[in-house]
Amino acid sequence: PVKIVTIGGGSSYTPELMEGFIKRYDELPIREIWLVDIEDGKEKLEIVGAMAQRMWDASPYDVKVHLTLDRREALKDADFVTTQFRVGLLNARVKDERIPFSYGMLGQETNGAGGIFKAFRTIPVILSIVEDMKELCPDAWLINFTNPSGMVTEAVMKYGKWDKVIGLCNVPVGAMMAEPETIGKTLDQLTYKFAGLNHFHWHKVYDEHGNEVTQQIIDAMYEGKDGGIPANIHDIPFFKEQLDTMQMIPCGYHRYYYRQEEMLKHGLEEYSTIGTRAQQVKQTEEELFELYKNPELDHKPEQLAKRGGAHYSDAACETIASIYANKNTHIVVTTRNNGAVPDLPPEAAVEVSAYIGATGAKAIAFGPFQPAERGWLQCMKNMEWCVEEAAVTGDYGKALQAFILNPQIPSGATAKRVLDELLLAHKKYLPQF
Ligand code: NAD
Ligand code: G6P
Ligand code: MN
Repeated sequence: PVKIVTIGGGSSYTPELMEGFIKRYDELPIREIWLVDIEDGKEKLEIVGAMAQRMWDASPYDVKVHLTLDRREALKDADFVTTQFRVGLLNARVKDERIPFSYGMLGQETNGAGGIFKAFRTIPVILSIVEDMKELCPDAWLINFTNPSGMVTEAVMKYGKWDKVIGLCNVPVGAMMAEPETIGKTLDQLTYKFAGLNHFHWHKVYDEHGNEVTQQIIDAMYEGKDGGIPANIHDIPFFKEQLDTMQMIPCGYHRYYYRQEEMLKHGLEEYSTIGTRAQQVKQTEEELFELYKNPELDHKPEQLAKRGGAHYSDAACETIASIYANKNTHIVVTTRNNGAVPDLPPEAAVEVSAYIGATGAKAIAFGPFQPAERGWLQCMKNMEWCVEEAAVTGDYGKALQAFILNPQIPSGATAKRVLDELLLAHKKYLPQF
């Protein structure tokens, strides 16, 4: 029987995770689930924790959900540790988004200056979790959902020296759920091949005869069919001529780079009217917790779909079940490249199609990119390395290097001001600087 520990257990996504585990109980027999949070998240933990226990009680399975603020108590002998925490909670995200916008730059949870600062706050915490794991559950797998998921996962491998880690994102799941229908197919008839970085990957699709159908899906999207863009991203279409040449489908987040001007304009408009995404999400979160308080509620409510992370459990629970039962399922994960993307070194963390089994993730070969995509990919990967190194060392010059390299941050005096202001705003969560 399996022991699962979820760090950031007070997240409104916890019912999503429980639903995924309940669905897969037959192949993943869980004995206990420990939801871990901190003092600031105690109230959320208690509300959503009670809701999680009700979901199990309404199921045919006998699983106990433990709630604790003592991470070390929870980690003892864990088999799988999942992470879904947010250092500084949504108030910190509000600052990540508002401060760059106030200087005319993109303010976004995982892109630009805000994404860099989310990495700065998160990487020291994930590394301290890894240190605890080395001592308390040295055989456990770490399944990371905490954003920026790619960089956080890479920091675990590179600086934490912990290889049993897999990074997750729901964006590929959303694409694979929506796209087959756009060309009159079902997912099991198609073969998907993803490669790139977290929130910066592309994919190609093949049918049951091995014929590539990527172009058909591209065409369908321009006929207005839903390609599964996450709820948090404003849908400004890519230039069709660009995709026709690329012969790949970019992920939803590529809009911030391929239609940078328009996405920034839209973000700035929202910032000055309805507020940033974090402010909108705060309201959704409040509504969700009101629902979770209802002692009658014992299943995941519809309203959770308003959050960008819908279907997260399909990735997380399937990954865990695939490791446990050695299923060798195709899942898109952040893992070690090992040559799957020859344009990046073997040790780089990439987000790729992989087979997941008892020994973890095996990245599937994707092959080299064309110059345009290769250029972006190498720029973004090197930017991520600068961010991770700055996060670990607390070196101001390295942080500035990351800012100057990041395509969402125009270089110059304003970039430095935004860096300084974010350092001050998040001081409490940045002991390394
Ligand atoms: P949230 O603000 O609800 O935070 C989740 C919980 O983490 C809170 O209860 C908080 O108290 C707790 N927490 C904060 N610091 C902690 C620490 N040091 N140790 C333990 N717990 C701590 O966040 P959310 O909106 O539910 O999102 C959770 C995380 O998942 C975020 O990092 C978010 O970016 C990420 N996310 C990832 C994806 C993806 O595709 N990978 C999708 C959606 C959300
Ligand atoms: C997306 C992503 C996440 C992202 C989140 C934001 O789909 O995959 O990594 O950060 O959803 O959702 P939210 O509802 O919090 O804005
Ligand atoms: Mn994501």
